[in-house]
Amino acid sequence: MSNDAWKNYFDQKAERHGASVKASDYFDDASFFMQRDNTLRWLGAQSGKEILDAGCGVGAFSEPLVKDNTVYGVDFSEKSLAFAAERGLVTQTGDLAALPFADGKFDVVLCIGVIQLIENYRPVLQELARVTKPGGTLLIQTLHRGSIQRKLLKLVETQKKFDKLYSMAELEQVFAECGFEDISFQKLYHPFRFVTTGAKGALTDLFCTSFAIKGRKKRG
Ligand SMILES: C[S@@+](CC[C@H](N)C(=O)[O-])C[C@H]1O[C@@H](n2cnc3c(N)ncnc32)[C@H](O)[C@@H]1O
Repeated sequence: MSNDAWKNYFDQKAERHGASVKASDYFDDASFFMQRDNTLRWLGAQSGKEILDAGCGVGAFSEPLVKDNTVYGVDFSEKSLAFAAERGLVTQTGDLAALPFADGKFDVVLCIGVIQLIENYRPVLQELARVTKPGGTLLIQTLHRGSIQRKLLKLVETQKKFDKLYSMAELEQVFAECGFEDISFQKLYHPFRFVTTGAKGALTDLFCTSFAIKGRKKRG
């Protein structure tokens, strides 16, 4: 879908579901909290940091970080951003392919559940890398191409909305090309509701439906 179509899609979701995580297309609250709690724990405690939530939607994912940090939220859905602002994010309407921030502004950049919507995701990753501070962290969460559950789902699905699935190896390579090191993964297994961390390539990857990848931007 085009950017305009996605913007309208998420504006309508925010009108229908308000501040609920359903506006950001989560299946239900339990699924959302499982993902958020595990991912923020994996990111580690943050305090006094400048954080970007890129494609923040209604801002529910980064809300726990607001208390001790300055959290910026960028999204092209203005209706979603209104709820993110109520949650305490500093909001800015915009496209992730052209962020209105200086190089190296952020200690932490989060991009959760967004790149599966973006056909040409590399310029967006380069932009996220640009605004990450040397020594800072970029963390992206998205859908896993290799999962058996997703392959089975494809056989029965009549309406496919999220078309892009990613391999961990592909994103690891792009992270490295964008200047990140210490790259690691957290794997999530729906509907089993548990996560593992570690390297890619294990047998468990067959059942991993979504994954998060994080890396530290090289200094100098
Ligand atoms: C599935 S929602 C996830 C929201 C949030 N990250 C979360 O996990 O709760 C995806 C969000 O990305 C936004 N989005 C997608 N592509 C974008 C782009 N190119 N620029 C800005 N926002 C974008 C959508 O408007 C939507 O709010």
